[in-house]
Amino acid sequence: MASAKRDPVRSPEDFLVFGAPQIGEDEKREVLDCLESGWLGTGPKVAEFERSFRSYVGGDHAVAVSSCTAALHLSMLAASVGPGDEVITTAMTFCSTVNAIIHAGATPVLADIDPHEINIDPAAVEACITPRTKAILPVHFAGRPCNMAALTDLAQRHGLVLVEDCAHAIEAEIDGRHMGTFGDYGCFSFYVTKNLMTGEGGMVVARDESHADRIKVLGLHGMSRDAWKRFSDDGFRHYQVVECGYKYNMMDLQAALGLHQLRRIEANWKRRESIWRTYEREFHDLPVRLPAPTRPGTRHAHHLFTLEIDESRAGISRDDFMRGMHRENIGVGVHYQSIPSHPFYRERYGWEPEAWPNSKRFGEETVSLPLSAKLDDDDVGDVITAVRRVLAGD
Ligand SMILES: Cc1ncc(COP(=O)(O)O)c(C=O)c1O
Repeated sequence: MASAKRDPVRSPEDFLVFGAPQIGEDEKREVLDCLESGWLGTGPKVAEFERSFRSYVGGDHAVAVSSCTAALHLSMLAASVGPGDEVITTAMTFCSTVNAIIHAGATPVLADIDPHEINIDPAAVEACITPRTKAILPVHFAGRPCNMAALTDLAQRHGLVLVEDCAHAIEAEIDGRHMGTFGDYGCFSFYVTKNLMTGEGGMVVARDESHADRIKVLGLHGMSRDAWKRFSDDGFRHYQVVECGYKYNMMDLQAALGLHQLRRIEANWKRRESIWRTYEREFHDLPVRLPAPTRPGTRHAHHLFTLEIDESRAGISRDDFMRGMHRENIGVGVHYQSIPSHPFYRERYGWEPEAWPNSKRFGEETVSLPLSAKLDDDDVGDVITAVRRVLAGD
């Protein structure tokens, strides 16, 4: 318990917000330019952002959408995943990974994680494959690449679609190849706390042009591809609705932010990498578990720095640790409680968290520390002081 006698590490007015985005002057100017142009909806800035992002990750085709959730849902539909199909994903992820499968009408099947790397365990995936399995949906958790050699091998051997949830993993690579380009689809998030943010936003990188085209059509009401250009200044054209789609398009206003965020992505990664190394150095002697080392030949996107707090070893529960950090006026997060611990999934699928023990344990012990590129050295110093004090019961 924090002592009532001393001051917190930071004042309440100076609360350190978890995942605060870094917003530069360039994107502020671009947003203003967008507002002044009168063109706020899907237009030239979205097209430019798609081109730049595709070139950054080295993908074949890129379609910007309103969120990663939309990207996942549209990938499922483009892959013809539907009722009667099963999709295998991880029990340790954000709810929308699983919801996207359900939105497509398919049944999610959960595989447990490797307890060290926290990514889906390929052996557990293999054990879940049935004649109804249609796709595998791994998540590069916290920005650490999954074992794509094993997962692509499984997908090929069993004829399965591979959709990568890259919400945390924009900069992550294996042998110089970006995550999102191993599978048939890579889905990215530009939510405010992400490594690149557009407020809300997402992107699908697809290997096959016809799949990318279908995603474009489904992402804008099911209007034919040309409908994306219907407000351009090269003349009036009718649009045609060719199937029942969704309202999942990205706006130029969002792309205005993304274009400049993308230009700084490597500089921001370097800053987070430096904070990550500092945390590793400063916390190595504490009675908590730190993220596993990064495998040689891979690049971690450094999206979440987690501490695993086992009460029997640390002398404090994860939730009391979080309360302690809050009293120090430092924002922390939980990513995530395991999927089967949520009532909706338990009720609908009869899942019990104990059946995925590694995900259950991690979900009960994990806490994410601030890791935004916006943090200056004083902020990082405050996080370190607070973690040490709270763990020491000071
Ligand atoms: C692993 C994972 N998948 C999917 C999503 C959904 O992203 P979005 O908020 O852009 O829909 C998130 C967002 O937090 C996430 O962390």
